[in-house]
Amino acid sequence: MKASCGYIECNETEKLMRIRYKKWARPELEASPFYVDNPESKRGKWKESFKNPSLPLYLELGCGKGNFITEMASRHQEINFLAIDLVDAMLGLAKRNVEQIYKEKNIETDNIYLTRFDIERINLILSEEDQIERIYINFCNPWPRGKHHKKRLTHTKQLAKYKEFLKPGGEIYFKTDDDNLFYESLEYFKQEGFKLIKTTEDLHNEVDFWENIETEHEKMFSEQGIKIKAGIFFIGDSPE
Ligand SMILES: C[S@@+](CC[C@H](N)C(=O)[O-])C[C@H]1O[C@@H](n2cnc3c(N)ncnc32)[C@H](O)[C@@H]1O
Repeated sequence: MKASCGYIECNETEKLMRIRYKKWARPELEASPFYVDNPESKRGKWKESFKNPSLPLYLELGCGKGNFITEMASRHQEINFLAIDLVDAMLGLAKRNVEQIYKEKNIETDNIYLTRFDIERINLILSEEDQIERIYINFCNPWPRGKHHKKRLTHTKQLAKYKEFLKPGGEIYFKTDDDNLFYESLEYFKQEGFKLIKTTEDLHNEVDFWENIETEHEKMFSEQGIKIKAGIFFIGDSPE
């Protein structure tokens, strides 16, 4: 069921998975060289799984249909990327997206992996050894009801988990359409010891805030005239 905010009802992950079910997704993912089916086996070894292990490793949490990660990773061959989502159908679309764009650009899919996992249990697939330098959290579910706030991907409970595998100086890039999620997340970052680099309440009217790549949800919300809020935070003494 689609909520008025444009998100799938936040307490209906099961339903979401059924609604978006795509028969072809699982077999295609399993056959893909850049899909990892057993991410727990890669814990602490992600870097060496890439063709060039010496590159920095960036993570996207909740990649959806993959527009963002496809464009970002294909533009930045000097960085390795791992994108995580919970839903096969989303990952299937992301996989097709990656294939199409990398083919158009005539480049190899050497710097990207997709995997399916529940981010609430992320420490089962990532550890300190993975040395993540940057995390992107784009339009995560706002979980508007108080009793569900702990499920937000920016909640202190989650941020504490990310600190276990972020490198000192590691950054989180966060954007959302949702005012409550945004302002409450600013507090979550502060409470978990993240330092603010910068924020904006109107990303699309900023010049050079960051290299912005529009996501599926970002396009939908900005077409409705909703301002996009964003921030960059880091952990440690100084940013990467
Ligand atoms: C609102 S969509 C945003 C998708 C995309 N980032 C965008 O900006 O268009 C949130 C995505 O996060 C995924 N997601 C939500 N909770 C998750 C969790 N606990 N673990 C993994 N993925 C999750 C959903 O399946 C969905 O694809």
